[in-house]
Amino acid sequence: MNTPLYNALVNHKRLNRSSFHTPGHKSSGIINSELLELDYTELPDTDALFEASGVILESEKNLAKLFGVKRTLISAGGCSLAIMTMIRLATMNGGKLLCGRNIHRSAVNAMTLLGVEPIWLLPRNNGAFTGRIYAEDVCKALAENSDICGCYITSPTYYGEISDIAGISKVCKEYNIPLLVDNAHGSHLKFLSEDIHPITLGASMTACSVHKTLPVLTGGALLNINDDRFIEGSKEAMSLFASTSPPYPIMASIDLCADYISKNADIYKRLEPIIAEIKILADRLGILQPDGLCDPLRIALNTASIGISGEKAGEFFRSMGVEPEFADDENVVFICTPFNSENDFTNLRNAIKLLNKLDKDFVVKEKSKIFLPKRVMSLREAVLGKSEFIPREKAIGRISADTACPCPPGIPVYMPGEIIESYDCLNEFVKVLI
Ligand SMILES: Cc1ncc(COP(=O)(O)O)c(C=O)c1O
Repeated sequence: MNTPLYNALVNHKRLNRSSFHTPGHKSSGIINSELLELDYTELPDTDALFEASGVILESEKNLAKLFGVKRTLISAGGCSLAIMTMIRLATMNGGKLLCGRNIHRSAVNAMTLLGVEPIWLLPRNNGAFTGRIYAEDVCKALAENSDICGCYITSPTYYGEISDIAGISKVCKEYNIPLLVDNAHGSHLKFLSEDIHPITLGASMTACSVHKTLPVLTGGALLNINDDRFIEGSKEAMSLFASTSPPYPIMASIDLCADYISKNADIYKRLEPIIAEIKILADRLGILQPDGLCDPLRIALNTASIGISGEKAGEFFRSMGVEPEFADDENVVFICTPFNSENDFTNLRNAIKLLNKLDKDFVVKEKSKIFLPKRVMSLREAVLGKSEFIPREKAIGRISADTACPCPPGIPVYMPGEIIESYDCLNEFVKVLI
């Protein structure tokens, strides 16, 4: 038998591209290669993730100290598992959750499985990027709906935009509901020159994909809990969605990361001026980037603003030995960490400088306004109901059975259970209820 997956990985490694994608360790050697030899399981001396009382609990206590929270739970099932756990904890008996519409699939899955109904909040000022959730909009929604059990937002966005967590948290406290933040892209915000981690700014719980921006193996994530109401039962809540065989190398890499960061606290701070200078370079070349409060380490370039589609720019970066995290119609996103080398940043700068030389292939069109479609059934009914794929032209008036999310701006135009009113932004085939 051949080994197609293994071969692809080996071949990709040989390309030796500068990695501006996850994982945050960038294969820089910071991950101890001995970890693979430590692929053990739950044994009397290695503790058990969901009944942690020994070394795993001790490691989680270290992490809680590092992040300044009451309780931290390790997830070896990515941030998706931490997100599902947060939602379970905030909505023990179903109910309604106020949610930013720019939501990750794992949150929609959790609400579907748990019978939770979202009340949607649209991000504002998305322009070429996703936009932010505003405290006034949270306040208005809470005043209009008396039975909401929590508020869930994504900050930072994929493009690095950060919402006013302190303001939103204040509103949530006035209404005595928890603020849950999908901080998948922002674990490192704790370690910047200004600590802008959402847990510091008042969130009740955050789901943090530590593998994205910290030196952790892929799949490593944390659930940080800073609200006493959700500590008890948190392990049971996580185990509801998780494998009973958590990978020890991933968990141990989180343990090592905590030790490393605690001893090298300023590595993220030292990266800030380097990224700031690259953002200035792109700005001088006329490339649009998100404005307002943003993750200082995230680079999101709207190459469409200089007439080059994100896909074409992505291909160009690859040809220049630079592998971005992601390229969509209009944008290219780069995840930068202190584990990128000087040479990586030189390659990135050189490629950005040449972007203007490419033939133009993109004309910016006016964006259709994002709106909230009519919802006729619950997420659960729509996702679990019998469905079919049909050509998008035939989908008008049908009920969506899936999340339709064009990129950009990363805000679903239809969620399951909503009536499809226009097929402009949809893929060629659409999943609808029969
Ligand atoms: C905003 C957001 N939330 C959650 C996730 C899920 O994270 P993970 O891949 O660690 O499960 C992602 C993954 O890209 C994401 O972009």
